[in-house]
Amino acid sequence: MSADIAPNAPAASPVQKGLEGVVASDTNISDVDGAKCELSYRGYSMDELVGKAGYEEVSYLLLNGSLPAAAELAAWNRELAGHRPLEAELLQTMERLPFGDPMAYLRTVVSIMGLRDPQAEDLTRLRSQSISLIAKIPTIVALFDRLRNRRAMLGPRPDLGHAANFLYMLHGEDPSPEAVAALDAYFVLLAEHSFNASTFAARTSVGTQTDLYSAITAAVGTLKGPLHGAANTKAMDMLKEIGSEDRVDAFVKQTLADHKRFMGFGHRVYKGEDPRAKHLKRYAEALAAKGEAKWLRISERLQQAVWDAKKLAINVDFYSASLLNYLGIPADLFTPMFACARISGWCAHVLEQAADNRLIRPLARYTGPKGLQFVPLNRRASPTAG
Ligand code: SDX
Repeated sequence: MSADIAPNAPAASPVQKGLEGVVASDTNISDVDGAKCELSYRGYSMDELVGKAGYEEVSYLLLNGSLPAAAELAAWNRELAGHRPLEAELLQTMERLPFGDPMAYLRTVVSIMGLRDPQAEDLTRLRSQSISLIAKIPTIVALFDRLRNRRAMLGPRPDLGHAANFLYMLHGEDPSPEAVAALDAYFVLLAEHSFNASTFAARTSVGTQTDLYSAITAAVGTLKGPLHGAANTKAMDMLKEIGSEDRVDAFVKQTLADHKRFMGFGHRVYKGEDPRAKHLKRYAEALAAKGEAKWLRISERLQQAVWDAKKLAINVDFYSASLLNYLGIPADLFTPMFACARISGWCAHVLEQAADNRLIRPLARYTGPKGLQFVPLNRRASPTAG
């Protein structure tokens, strides 16, 4: 079977379904070490960053390659604060959109932002457009929830940081320090993860020299899938279906019998526990201490039962579910929350791809028929004809 190989192309490599194990390019943004189950951003491990660097610092690190000094961080915070509010015309458009699937809504608004930006196609503005999207995505998600619930609009406050502003706009009250710390850590932990499906979609898009909004629209649409970003919502649905600790074992047995997936478990790269999970669990525990510990208890029991049954470890989405639930965030907003964090990683990869671009175009191995003769319509027998 031949492949669609150009005459001077290198010999085609064997098919790797899902590009599993294929190294598509170099990157210096993050290192996802599947064997050691370690993750680092620009050389800093999660243990080094979580609880020490806020999301604002980490988004600067991802886009600029180094942690900001005080003056740089102050300027970055001012820039993010300046971009956080939505223009009145965009808000009016958002009010008239159908309040359907939250990720479909977010994907649509990002696309509309591109349509409204007269300089969208100017690739020299990728960085300023990136900062605007990093700042605005949480505002869009929070105001979507206010609009669909017919609550009064609330804009971001200049005196609040990134995580605090989201919680303020969503709930309409000043968030507690514990809630801000937990959401900030969540944003840091989900900010970037090398060539995951949604980031690779963004890189593939901008590899054609299309605009940032098109690349981020593709990324949001890719993250929407339950095998990727939507697993956090499905993991919460799973915890609610189980309902109590004493029903965990029966649930695991039935899921295995039905050959179904445990949401929030397994990973293409990590062959052990996702290095982000322990941090997310710690923040969920801190919040549970003030709320209903039931979801954590069910999670811990389920984590052990699935490991015992399948040696399957949890991934980033498992304790994300409890953490976001404890923050009072509706489960159908969990995947948009993932996008609120990952927008920094997506933009960093767009900038990296654009700076040293090579059109992303893999080969395919053709396995269909060849050399067929054309048969005129009046002589073509219907395949269903007796
Ligand atoms: C994210 O790539 C990234 O970096 C993504 C991410 C990021 O930060 O961007 O880390 C975020 O997307 C995390 C993953 C979220 N998705 C889920 O939690 C959905 C449930 N998980 C899976 O469907 C699965 O684990 C994947 C999709 C995450 C990875 O799947 P792979 O690498 O394609 O593995 P596979 O489907 O080939 O499974 C290998 C084996 C199979 O067993 P067999 O059928 O060969 O006997 O492991 C089993 C699978 O059945 N398996 C699971 C399972 N995951 C794998 N069995 C039950 N439940 C699961 N969750």
